[in-house]
Amino acid sequence: MHRTLSITCLAAVIFCAACAKRPSEPQGASQGEKGSVTKQEFGKTAQGQPVDLYILKNRNGVEAAITNYGGIVVSLRTPDAKGQFADVVLGFDNLQGYLGEHPYFGAIVGRYGNRIAKGKFSLNGKTYTLAKNNGENSLHGGLKGFDKQVWSATAESKPEGQVLTLKYRSADGEEGYPGNLDVTVVYTLTDDNDLKIDYAATTDQDTVLNITNHTYFNLTGQGKGDVLGQQIAINSSRFTPVDAGLIPTGELKPVAGTPFDFRNPKAIGKDIAADDLQLKLGKGYDHNFVLDRKDEGLAPAAEVTDPVSGRVLQVWTTEPATQFYTGNFLDGTIKGKGGVAYQQRFGFCLETQHYPDSPNHPAFPTTTLKAGQQYKSTTVWKFRTAAAQ
Ligand code: GLA
Repeated sequence: MHRTLSITCLAAVIFCAACAKRPSEPQGASQGEKGSVTKQEFGKTAQGQPVDLYILKNRNGVEAAITNYGGIVVSLRTPDAKGQFADVVLGFDNLQGYLGEHPYFGAIVGRYGNRIAKGKFSLNGKTYTLAKNNGENSLHGGLKGFDKQVWSATAESKPEGQVLTLKYRSADGEEGYPGNLDVTVVYTLTDDNDLKIDYAATTDQDTVLNITNHTYFNLTGQGKGDVLGQQIAINSSRFTPVDAGLIPTGELKPVAGTPFDFRNPKAIGKDIAADDLQLKLGKGYDHNFVLDRKDEGLAPAAEVTDPVSGRVLQVWTTEPATQFYTGNFLDGTIKGKGGVAYQQRFGFCLETQHYPDSPNHPAFPTTTLKAGQQYKSTTVWKFRTAAAQ
């Protein structure tokens, strides 16, 4: 199943204009050097299950460390405009941190990314009840979602890049969802400095599915302050406003004339404190942006440029939307890597996905996966550079 929407030419043009300050091609390629993938022990879960950390390294020195606990991207080292490397994702130095309470740092989120209202939905005339782990709503798969499961893993060096394949069987009834669901997530780090995430799944009963990755980025380097000065362009002319529980009202609201207009690059912090009901409800940006698409397939969703380091992140996806979240719930209580207290807005997330609460909104693109159907979704994070200011 390939569930994608279409983009308008106009929006594509606007987006390209937004990206006018052309980022450069991958930096620091030392010809002849090869990429590698290595595995090391990362510790044990509370139940004693061993967990590993896989280090994917490309020939330019870009390095992604990913654990098979929750498929979490633990660190991601990319070069700045001067070729200096830094870790650009929030998280912890060890497994212990991830085993405790945390807001989905780097994790694969499922079965359903974002919220399902009142933890209930109907499918084929039957009502399913999910755990309510976010007020009266169900968030990010429930109490023990994909982010807290141990996935089986295989790592290989392939011509297309360094590849980590993760597999997980979510049993019928897990967290209240129907059907035995077999999920595969493949991370590929290429020599073009792309980290590609391919999701695939099949089920033996009709179910709903909305998988994403919840990495928090700070392109200056994790722990190096807030992201308010980083410039973002989002390829969306509409977003889904929410109610007080952050559930979409059903409206697709034009971004024009609102603080949600990122069709041209704008500092994340420029309008974040504007007197706007949606920003107040979200405590900042925590909204689903409907991507402007012309056809199916990989399309540009967003581009973030850090004027300090010159790092650029381009996000491409086959998904119809992306949740743009500005770390609003971070409040300094979590001590991340190196013991740094992660304060509000220390990271941003671009969770490519279908719209929140789609199972309760028949007008939204469907998130139903039928028995025997193949679910497929791809997101690519392209790390580039532009001149720092
Ligand atoms: C998503 C949600 C936010 C919050 C974070 C995790 O981005 O939309 O409301 O739950 O995940 O803290």
